[in-house]
Amino acid sequence: MNALHRDLKRLVDRVEAADAPRVAADPHRQRYHIQPAVGWLNDPNGLCKIGQDYHVFYQYGPFDPNGGVKHWGHLRSRDLLHWERLPVMLYPDAPYDCHGVYSGSALWEEGTLFLYYTGNVKYAGDYDYIRAGRGHNLCLATSRDGVTLDTKQCLMTNADYPAGLSCHVRDPKVWKQDGRYYMVLGARTLEDRGEVLVLQSTDRLHWTHINTLTTREPFGYMWECPDLFELGGQWYLAVSPQGIDCPNVYGCGYFPVYGDWRGEYTLGDFHPLDMGYDFYAPQSFADGDRRLQFGWMAMPDAPYTTPDAAFGWNHCLTVPRVLTAGPSGTLRQNPAPGLAALRSPAALSLPGGETVSGPACFDLTAAPQGDFTLTLAGGLQLRYEEAAHTCTLRFTDPAIAYGRSGERRARLTAPCRSLRVLGDASSVEIFLNDGATVFTTRYFPAPGPRPIRLDGAAGLLYQLNGEE
Ligand code: FRU
Repeated sequence: MNALHRDLKRLVDRVEAADAPRVAADPHRQRYHIQPAVGWLNDPNGLCKIGQDYHVFYQYGPFDPNGGVKHWGHLRSRDLLHWERLPVMLYPDAPYDCHGVYSGSALWEEGTLFLYYTGNVKYAGDYDYIRAGRGHNLCLATSRDGVTLDTKQCLMTNADYPAGLSCHVRDPKVWKQDGRYYMVLGARTLEDRGEVLVLQSTDRLHWTHINTLTTREPFGYMWECPDLFELGGQWYLAVSPQGIDCPNVYGCGYFPVYGDWRGEYTLGDFHPLDMGYDFYAPQSFADGDRRLQFGWMAMPDAPYTTPDAAFGWNHCLTVPRVLTAGPSGTLRQNPAPGLAALRSPAALSLPGGETVSGPACFDLTAAPQGDFTLTLAGGLQLRYEEAAHTCTLRFTDPAIAYGRSGERRARLTAPCRSLRVLGDASSVEIFLNDGATVFTTRYFPAPGPRPIRLDGAAGLLYQLNGEE
């Protein structure tokens, strides 16, 4: 442990203790979503299972609810419902990561946790920090108990990446397959094109660039947080592209990959993963034979905010979602089944056309047969129109939107026959047609009863017994 590590650790402990009362006083503090103890959270990182325990790391800015220098926060859970907060795993305490321990992934093997991440370095000077002035280093940290750090090192610097790239090369996702290790890295070229580098290794330390994945026509200037995985015989490349035409500031979705991503391939159509206001930088990992995904429930550089920074914290992750293959190269996302364990024993009925005073944390299910409108807290509306299979999410009360304006609209591929909505103190995750279309957003209702109204269908409403 170097001296900076020691002092940063002390500072984090101190700020977490000092700000805890202020954070706890926030009525919009979530009950069953992963959120930072204090300060800022962004991308999920290092998702893995060690023995019986799920581990989730996340981009953590403990000193500033509006960002700050990134660490890796850490939580552990047996059931994906109750999370134990563990000490920060990675601090920005080395010359190769001193401006932020950026996003990355985990590999658990031979009794060691290997954490691959990007060390962010900004050099002092008059730079644009895109083509010059920034180091994006590929780094590796190890831990034998999954909780305390043993080693940390820099494996590659920008000079080791293929020619033609800007300084922006980050967010390693690593996995093992057929006795080899593979990595995908998000990149921005000098021509401002987004792409994904594929690297290969036999020893986890030395990596060789073997392919580059991109679209035929340029599709945005940067692809952040890549994820490459197979489900039901189909490969998918998920990315968070910046600079594409989309309703939110940045995009977030996946391409089905046809052919061999190690050689000749083509990327199919890009599908957004989420149609709401707040979803970005998701990552997934294999949990036995299922694939679980967490996303960041926010949008970087958005013109809208949350009221939470005033209480000393900001942002949260989505619930864990199971990814499955849908038809024609599509993906489905559904809440991990274990979440149903948070449900109250009895369901309340939600009769069509009546306003019910609902709990803040709920799990609503319905089987609509035609047009319906769901209105939450009197000001967040989801409207489905059967004629065109369109679904529209909009805030009708700006007081609960914190700047989320304009509609978010999706055209479903089939008539809407299933609706599931998970509500927490300040978020909703809406799953339509068995997770074929998902809307995720934060909302900030006033404290007190939460009216819920479903017009055009009847539903069942379970209270969810979340705990912070
Ligand atoms: C995505 C991202 C990543 C980066 C991290 C820094 O939200 O910009 O590309 O590694 O956040 O916190």
